[in-house]
Amino acid sequence: MIPREWVELVKDGLKYSYAPYSGVKVSALAITPDGKVYRGVNVENASLGLTVCAERVAIFNAVSNGERKIKTIVLTSNLDKPIYPPCGACLQVMSEFGVEEVIIVHGDKVIKHSLSELFPRPFSDWRR
Ligand code: THU
Repeated sequence: MIPREWVELVKDGLKYSYAPYSGVKVSALAITPDGKVYRGVNVENASLGLTVCAERVAIFNAVSNGERKIKTIVLTSNLDKPIYPPCGACLQVMSEFGVEEVIIVHGDKVIKHSLSELFPRPFSDWRR
C-alpha cells in the first residue's frame, strides 16, 4: 500500500489538468527521499506537440524548488484503464533525477514498477 495522502493528492490534481484537446486528464506526484511531494498535471496546447505530460511537470516543479533527487512518481488519470506505462520522454526525464519507483493509482488499484523495469537503458551523457 501507499500513503493515503499520496492517493488523495494525486487524484485531487486531476481537477487542475489542462487537457481541452484530448480530454485525457493526468495528475502526477514527484516525491523526494525525505517525503516532500510536488504535484504536476498535463498541460496541452493548441499547437499539440507542445503538450507536456503531468510526470514532467511534477518533476520540473520539484527541481524548480531545489530538489535534485526524486525517489517516487505517483500517477493517475481519468481514463477507464490505468495510465501505463509513462511515455518514453517522461521515463528518460525520470532517469535523470534518479527515480526508483513508478506507482500508478487507478480507483482502489495501485500498480508499482521499478523504473529500471520500465526503462532499462536510459540515455546518459557520455561526458558525465
Ligand atoms: N499524458 C500524460 O500526462 N502522461 C502520460 O504518461 C501519458 C500522456 C498526457 C499528454 C496528453 O495531454 C494526454 O495525456 C493524452 O496523451
